[in-house]
Amino acid sequence: METKEPIEDLHQRIQELEAELNKAKKKEELFLSILNSIPEEILFIDPEYNILDANKAFLDSVGLDKKDIIGSKCYEIFSKIGRPCQKGSESCPLNLAITSKRKVEIPISEKALGSVNEYLKIAYPITIGPSMSSYILEIRREFGSIPTLIKALRYSEQKFYSILNSVSEAIISINQDHEIILFNQAAEKIFGYKSREVLGHDLSMLIPPQYGDHYRHIRKFFEKPESKAIFRDITVTALRKGGQEFPAQIGISYLQTEDEHIFTAIIRDLSDKLDLEKRLLQNERFTAIGKTVAHVVHELKTPLMIIGGLSQQLLRTIPDSSTQKKLDIICEEVARLERLLMDLGDFTKEQTLVLRRADINDLIHDVIGMMIALPSSQRYHFVTKLCKSDVVIQCDPDKLKQVLINIVVNAMEAMEEGGEIEIFSKKLSDHVEITIRDHGIGIKEEDLSNIFEPFYTTRKRGTGLGLSISYKIVQAHCGELKAQSKVGEGTTFTILLPIR
Ligand SMILES: Nc1ncnc2c1ncn2[C@@H]1O[C@H](COP(=O)(O)OP(=O)(O)OP(=O)(O)O)[C@@H](O)[C@H]1O
Ligand SMILES: [Mg+2]
Repeated sequence: METKEPIEDLHQRIQELEAELNKAKKKEELFLSILNSIPEEILFIDPEYNILDANKAFLDSVGLDKKDIIGSKCYEIFSKIGRPCQKGSESCPLNLAITSKRKVEIPISEKALGSVNEYLKIAYPITIGPSMSSYILEIRREFGSIPTLIKALRYSEQKFYSILNSVSEAIISINQDHEIILFNQAAEKIFGYKSREVLGHDLSMLIPPQYGDHYRHIRKFFEKPESKAIFRDITVTALRKGGQEFPAQIGISYLQTEDEHIFTAIIRDLSDKLDLEKRLLQNERFTAIGKTVAHVVHELKTPLMIIGGLSQQLLRTIPDSSTQKKLDIICEEVARLERLLMDLGDFTKEQTLVLRRADINDLIHDVIGMMIALPSSQRYHFVTKLCKSDVVIQCDPDKLKQVLINIVVNAMEAMEEGGEIEIFSKKLSDHVEITIRDHGIGIKEEDLSNIFEPFYTTRKRGTGLGLSISYKIVQAHCGELKAQSKVGEGTTFTILLPIR
């Protein structure tokens, strides 16, 4: 006998079903809105190639309406053929996904309007529901943007390196372990290392050891990052490959990446700038002193000439020998003062050069020959190491000889007991370098900056003009005169002259 449900129960059952239907509709709506908001193109088919659904991105891309494709076979719509695409066909991962029951990815490259469209076709086999129905989900994922991105990245990397290498400042980055991770071409030039010699090495190789614990800045920064222990434009001493220290101006910036803390220093070599400033100052001082001295020389010359001339006359007429002796002393002192005035004249005069072509090695030989002829030179030994080829340059040979003599005489005076004086010449790409080295008393670091100053002397009878005149002569040749010294070890003078 058929049992009838009471009418109320039926009502309730209908309401429950309606509620469930509503829920399912809402879920479907949600699912569809999610599906349609996905930018990748998605297509559902069953194992018989019937199209079940497609998202908005897919429909937009093929330019069709959902109703035009649902229920149709995918190969009819997209390949316009009456049978499934051939198995293993490269452009269709569906066959493979259906047969292998695994996710299949196939990269596709299509030429369109002169450009290449690259994307990935992904087919997922899915089994759902109590009936274990199988579906295939096909996703089209654009990756044409990835090579473009890589290209853009490479381009910006190249741009970054070309900027990095075009600047004249050294740019060096280190990580939190003080390892050098970036070293531009200017850094190679300034520090003398090739980047491969420093990358991955500790920063300490670029800082003189006596400057102590340079890691403290980084430690301080990590202790109190807000204290901005990162500095701008401070002057430090840095270390070149050969161990030479040099003044540098440095600014540091900080960058935190996902996995690293990077400190980047921009470093300017100040040696040239300081040299230039020193030279400018020296020039100004030379000019000022020169004017005063020229005036004094002019005022002294005539009375000195008169004193000398009259003394000579008296010397010839006075028979008294003790007076003659006194007059002799006057004449000697007058002669000494006249020589001093000549030196002063040299110093105040604008150095006009009488240029001709001369071999630097010949000049060195001439000067050594002159020095050896001096009776006081017995205790000195000259060692030369001259460049093999001729170094013929456009110069004033007499003036350059005067420079060499001044420096060699100073070297002899610095080694009263005698010793070895070395003279080298070296041909550089566009300069010739002459080095004169002694092993004498040396010069204190604080005095080194004064030796080219006019009238600076530590000798009893020195005028303090030898080096300042030499400096002016070398400068008139567009060259450079430099000195390095260590007390008790000796002094080295270097003359750089352009090869013209
Ligand atoms: N080779 C050297 N070793 C040590 N000190 C040196 C050397 N050359 C120069 N000096 C120092 O530099 C000073 C200046 O040298 P400079 O030749 O200009 O003058 P000077 O030798 O004192 O006098 P003069 O004008 O007679 O040459 C010297 O007095 C000396 O103190
Ligand atoms: Mg001298």
